Amino acid sequence: MSRNKIVIENVSKHFTVNNGNQRLYALDTINLTINEGEFFCLLGPSGCGKSTLLNILAGFLKPTEGRVLIDGEEVTAPNPKYVTIFQEYTLFPWRTVLGNVKFGLEIGGMAKQQQNEIASSFIKLVQLQGFEDRHPFELSGGMKQRVAIARTLAVDPEIIFMDEPFGSLDAITRMEMEEEITRIWQEENKTIVFVTHDIEEAIYLADRIAIMSHQPGRIDNVIRVNLGRPKDRTSDDFLSIRDKIYDEFKLKTRKPFVYQI
Ligand SMILES: Nc1ncnc2c1ncn2[C@@H]1O[C@H](COP(=O)(O)OP(=O)(O)O)[C@@H](O)[C@H]1O
Ligand SMILES: [Mg+2]
Repeated sequence: MSRNKIVIENVSKHFTVNNGNQRLYALDTINLTINEGEFFCLLGPSGCGKSTLLNILAGFLKPTEGRVLIDGEEVTAPNPKYVTIFQEYTLFPWRTVLGNVKFGLEIGGMAKQQQNEIASSFIKLVQLQGFEDRHPFELSGGMKQRVAIARTLAVDPEIIFMDEPFGSLDAITRMEMEEEITRIWQEENKTIVFVTHDIEEAIYLADRIAIMSHQPGRIDNVIRVNLGRPKDRTSDDFLSIRDKIYDEFKLKTRKPFVYQI
């Protein structure tokens, strides 16, 4: 039996824009349950509210209505049990790879030697051994995201929120990173909520995909990806799920942004 990890109850979010004169409805009555250990993707076009929803789950933003429960407790602020990885590389430029991965462990006050051991094991897990003393400017985009993943895993969070983390990588590096994060997720048993606008990325990664539409952001459909891992991107089953999702997006008319007073 899978256990509910994240429960989203009637979450709506509006932003006040134009000097307080207008409201933008970013999310409308989102209801969703994400299971412990699940790889869950939020998929939708740019501007549909994916980041807004993720930021609410991570405690960075408060919903206008509704609430989010994690392990049965309402989310009211960020918590070290959940870590977010963003598209922009959020490494400290003045720290080495090892120094970046160790960062969260230093805050916890752990003994230096243990910090180094833990950091080194995660650097190995993301296949960056030999690069411990490099600085971020010496690394490619894919390597920087590997460092960000290692730094996240080092603090042993229960949930990893990822907001288009591979969005600025070239297509081939991106595929490698998708394989990498799948392998790590399988080894580490984390719950992952992953935001993307890329249909194939969502199918490759997810156990289930929430398909969103915009203005206001809604979840139209949640589909289960019944494909064995590792997934074969060229298989008929993969392509038929892709075609089904493409068709679903084609049917959605893109409304202009509507502001309400
Ligand atoms: N702080 C904010 N103030 C006003 N509008 C915002 C704010 N954050 C997001 N929005 C708007 O909310 C909508 C959803 O944004 P976002 O969650 O970033 O979408 P996505 O991540 O799917 O591209 C967009 O129309 C965006 O312009
Ligand atoms: Mg976004």
